[in-house]
Amino acid sequence: VDLKVDRSLETPIHVQIASQIRELILTRQLPEGQRLPPSRLLGRQLGVHRSTILQVYNRLWSEGLIEGHVGRGTIVRKPRREREAGKASPSWNALFASRLESLAVELPELARLLNRSGVISLAAGFPAPDLYPLEGFSGAVRYILDRNPAELVQPCDVEGYLPLRTWIAGNIMGGIPTREVLILSGSQQGLSLLGQALVEPGDTVVVESPTYLGALQVFKAAGARLIGVPAGDGGIDLDILENLLQRIQPKLLYVQPTFQNPTGCSMGLEGRRRLLDLAGRYRIPIVEDDTYGLLRYEGETLPTLRSLDQYGCVLHLGTFSKILFPGLRVAWLSAPVQVIERLAPTKGMVDLFTNTPSQVIASELCSRGLLHSHLEEAKSEYQRRRDLMATALARECPGMDWLLPHGGCSIWCRLPGGVSGRDLLREALSEGVSFVTGEIFYLDGRGKDHIRLSFASEPPNRLEEGVRRLGKALRRVQSEADRARSFATEGFNRPIV
Ligand SMILES: Cc1ncc(COP(=O)(O)O)c(C=O)c1O
Repeated sequence: VDLKVDRSLETPIHVQIASQIRELILTRQLPEGQRLPPSRLLGRQLGVHRSTILQVYNRLWSEGLIEGHVGRGTIVRKPRREREAGKASPSWNALFASRLESLAVELPELARLLNRSGVISLAAGFPAPDLYPLEGFSGAVRYILDRNPAELVQPCDVEGYLPLRTWIAGNIMGGIPTREVLILSGSQQGLSLLGQALVEPGDTVVVESPTYLGALQVFKAAGARLIGVPAGDGGIDLDILENLLQRIQPKLLYVQPTFQNPTGCSMGLEGRRRLLDLAGRYRIPIVEDDTYGLLRYEGETLPTLRSLDQYGCVLHLGTFSKILFPGLRVAWLSAPVQVIERLAPTKGMVDLFTNTPSQVIASELCSRGLLHSHLEEAKSEYQRRRDLMATALARECPGMDWLLPHGGCSIWCRLPGGVSGRDLLREALSEGVSFVTGEIFYLDGRGKDHIRLSFASEPPNRLEEGVRRLGKALRRVQSEADRARSFATEGFNRPIV
């Protein structure tokens, strides 16, 4: 056997020799039954002590690659797996990473709920299909096809289609350099890339509680230890956050300062400034998920954290999913250049680049002003639907409590005393209406008394009918609960005979 020892390497000699012999065996250059040189001889050949070779042989023996026979010396063993071979499919269940196991159920279950046919969906967080600007879309696609169809099918830079990056940098992000924008295949991809690139197993990630399920999943999948800080009207609780930061150094803080999913609440300007001050003081990166930020139809526009950031700590995620078409799968990350430069290769490993047609179409829609005009229309329609839902809720679901959001797509409701979201969902589905229960937005099973009702994805008549059905389901659950309660009390008072 032709083995070499390189004493200039840091790798220990016995590891060097073992890995060479291992490779020779695995690639069948040393076939099964082949005798290996006696340790003393091989040691002499390589200029190492015999005990080093014995150490090598011991190691290869423990790996099942060689065996020793009195009289025959050390020989290459018959492949164990061949001896045991029985033909069957791979054991898929055992092959998947166990940390993904519990995560695998939630999203598909939710998707099934969202896609139930014949059911009025107050569950989907997508824009209303009846509001899609399809004429403008067709016009833009026809124009691109006439002008230069090849543009649609060309490969693209991993950072994204340059005219789109430039438009976003100039028109949405307030005039930042184009280099600070990375195009993504959905902001969900952005979360996933950040989880992959920044989070090591065991790192702490601080999130709002409640928060977006998709973010919780990504950070859990990255092996993060998640800590939820209460968030409600006014955003994340900054006193609790500060206390936390005095004790631990999280890797990331994930927040949605504007029209948070699911609460619909926003953080005020003062809060934003204080949050950035904390991030600067404790040197914490903030992921600002601004998925709903452009869907404001009431109240004063608040600056994004990214635009207020003096410390270079904010990574901002924006998306076309809620303001144009969810099917485009185009979103963006805006962040300091050094972050974009490090994340772009990570994105490249996932999908090389975001698909070109979607980017070119999005770019054309933006540059011809269609995004702007559509947003104006969509926002006033969402506001109408929000009001319609709130009025219907007050009428059909007495006892339900909510804060009216000033933007976004949904209302976060607290159920009347004792009613659980799950019980209500069961009855609601039998009435033909769906929504999302509160627990999925929490880390610890809280939220059973909350539900999220989306008003964006059904036309007004179905929206009203949906709330009417919800009210009917609620009355049924409440009367069941009343019956159970009175049974318990009667049972307790009944004289024992
Ligand atoms: C808060 C939040 N972030 C991110 C996403 C993912 O959006 P995208 O379609 O851009 O991947 C969603 C989708 O509902 C969301 O609600």
